[in-house]
Amino acid sequence: MTLRPFNISDAPAILSWCKDKHAFRLWSADRYKDYPAQPSDMIAQYEGDNLFPMTMVDGEEIVGHILLRYPSAGKSIIRFGFIIVDDTKRGMGYGRRLLQLAIDHACNQMGVKTITLGVFADNPSALKCYQSVGFKITGEDSYMIDGEKWKGYEMEYVNYNHKNDETGNQSQGHE
Ligand SMILES: CC(C)(COP(=O)(O)OP(=O)(O)OC[C@H]1O[C@@H](n2cnc3c(N)ncnc32)[C@H](O)[C@@H]1OP(=O)(O)O)[C@@H](O)C(=O)NCCC(=O)NCCS
Repeated sequence: MTLRPFNISDAPAILSWCKDKHAFRLWSADRYKDYPAQPSDMIAQYEGDNLFPMTMVDGEEIVGHILLRYPSAGKSIIRFGFIIVDDTKRGMGYGRRLLQLAIDHACNQMGVKTITLGVFADNPSALKCYQSVGFKITGEDSYMIDGEKWKGYEMEYVNYNHKNDETGNQSQGHE
């Protein structure tokens, strides 16, 4: 299994993995206006700097997707989003693998110190998946989704192998 940059041609497969609007909102919150979303909507989400959409492939087959983005000007914190596995392959370890590959990429290629993400409380498989790779709940919040109040958790993964900078000080986030 490998993680590679997202291609425009991956969009139809990834968007087909949310089978109803509720699942779509659990995945993407209110980031997309309409369900079902079109590939062009997905491309529009990923326009701009500091966004690194990735696709997990098993050989030629597209099996997972994740967005890595810097939430602010500093480069020591990255935020994961749009995490999803092929709906026919869930509960088989693919999500865990996707997270591990993304964590490895963020820590070892991008040199981040902290990874954050948000997850709805009503998404136990996602919550369990994130906890299983080392994310911890750091807070909770609520969001209005299609006129309903949804509880969400903020989660964080700390890269304890993060290198000190050349001054000898631990790198700081700039948020
Ligand atoms: C969230 C998601 C990526 C997890 O991927 P997955 O392949 O199903 O998860 P895995 O099989 O790798 O399981 C990871 C862990 O979660 C647990 N888990 C998975 N599904 C579970 C469920 N329905 N209930 C409880 N635990 C569950 C597994 O037991 C495993 O724990 P372990 O490592 O301690 O054994 C996947 O379910 C998904 O694509 N969901 C729809 C999109 C979505 O809502 N994304 C979240 C956006 S925040």
